[in-house]
Amino acid sequence: MAYSDKVLDHYENPRNVGSFDKEGDGIGTGMVGAPACGDVMKLQIRVSADGVIEDAKFKTYGCGSAIASSSLVTEWVKGKTLEQALTIKNTQIAEELALPPVKIHCSILAEDAIKAAVKDYQERQVKVAELAATEQ
Ligand code: FES
Ligand code: FES
Repeated sequence: MAYSDKVLDHYENPRNVGSFDKEGDGIGTGMVGAPACGDVMKLQIRVSADGVIEDAKFKTYGCGSAIASSSLVTEWVKGKTLEQALTIKNTQIAEELALPPVKIHCSILAEDAIKAAVKDYQERQVKVAELAATEQ
């Protein structure tokens, strides 16, 4: 199957590959897998004190469409608030990359990964707040 030019571009020049220390300040980590094909995607965000995503990184073990979807999403979330990041839909990713129907689940993986990263960030913030409260 032929990949679209945009998929090839992200696949050959993936943006924001790498990882942050998941215990680091302001970091949220989303790790998701696609049971259908066994692909795994890790997407991380670094959030500023005022709730804006300053940076994002990903590592994806999977097909070209999964890599392109995660690369694209790391670009999209930068500069967004958590609320804005949560509105990113897999259909927007699939449309931007012109994914064929059999590759739609790759874009769903990217949407799930960003949601998981935001959730992880929020849960870690709660833990930090609880810890601070017990130390007083
Ligand atoms: Fe997952 Fe493409 S089937 S690598
Ligand atoms: Fe499964 Fe791409 S084929 S994530």
